[in-house]
Amino acid sequence: MLLLLAYMALGIFVAGFGWRIWRYASTPAPLKIPTTPAPTTSSGVAWRLFTEVAFFNSLFKGNKWTWAGGYLFHLALALVLIRHLRYFIDPLPHFMVYVQIAGVVAGVAMVAALAFLLVRRLLVERVRFISSIADYLWLLLLLAIGATGLCMQFVSRPDIVAVKSAMIGWVTFRGFELPTDAVFILHFLLVLVLMALFPFSKLMHLGGIFFSPTRNQADNPREVKHVNPWAESIGAVFSTKETSRG
Ligand code: HEM
Repeated sequence: MLLLLAYMALGIFVAGFGWRIWRYASTPAPLKIPTTPAPTTSSGVAWRLFTEVAFFNSLFKGNKWTWAGGYLFHLALALVLIRHLRYFIDPLPHFMVYVQIAGVVAGVAMVAALAFLLVRRLLVERVRFISSIADYLWLLLLLAIGATGLCMQFVSRPDIVAVKSAMIGWVTFRGFELPTDAVFILHFLLVLVLMALFPFSKLMHLGGIFFSPTRNQADNPREVKHVNPWAESIGAVFSTKETSRG
């Protein structure tokens, strides 16, 4: 039963994520709407996207506390996931030895940051006003995954060798037998829920950020004419001469 659920969640995650990315990529952007001040060249756009993803630039300008909590959560999550590679890769590259301690510290930081973001949503009036049930549920799901992870780290250790052979069997489609440790089963089930719902949720900002017209467009409407993609489909096709003065 769990085996079937695990393969279903994996399938939904991979296919759903790919489908959403394809939808983002094939949706026309009819207007030039970069948030100004914006770069005027494509290399400038690439740099803007990089700093946005690496440092959460616009959130930093918007609200320092939200930036601190959000940035800490994402940084810690990245480290936790890198540490988790040890369950999926064999043999492990040597540098993974150095990630282990950092990964555990990151686990604690991740849960603390999530708790902070939840309290912020509950206590800050204007944030509470725009929060939906889903906003709370995602935070609670991630908190539950983090808490069960920390519980395995500090309270009830599962059989890590059995975890690793199950995970490798899972992702290589060779079938697998899950360790019977209750906290691990809970951690794993919560991760399956996360994977199955991910493509249909706001968490898709993971891929969506790269397709956001306010971020990925150059501010060059004075140099290059931006043609509404729908104009072409109704026959109003512009010649190259007309579309570019640059
Ligand atoms: C199928 C995927 C996953 C498996 C098999 C898995 C398994 C585990 C195991 C066995 C531990 C205990 C670590 C130890 O005892 O050394 C752990 C810890 C943890 N897990 Fe996961 N996990 C998975 C996915 C995730 C995801 C997606 C998240 C976050 C959203 C997460 C967050 C954590 C955290 C915060 C810890 C505690 C810190 C640490 O030990 O790294 N896990 N996980």
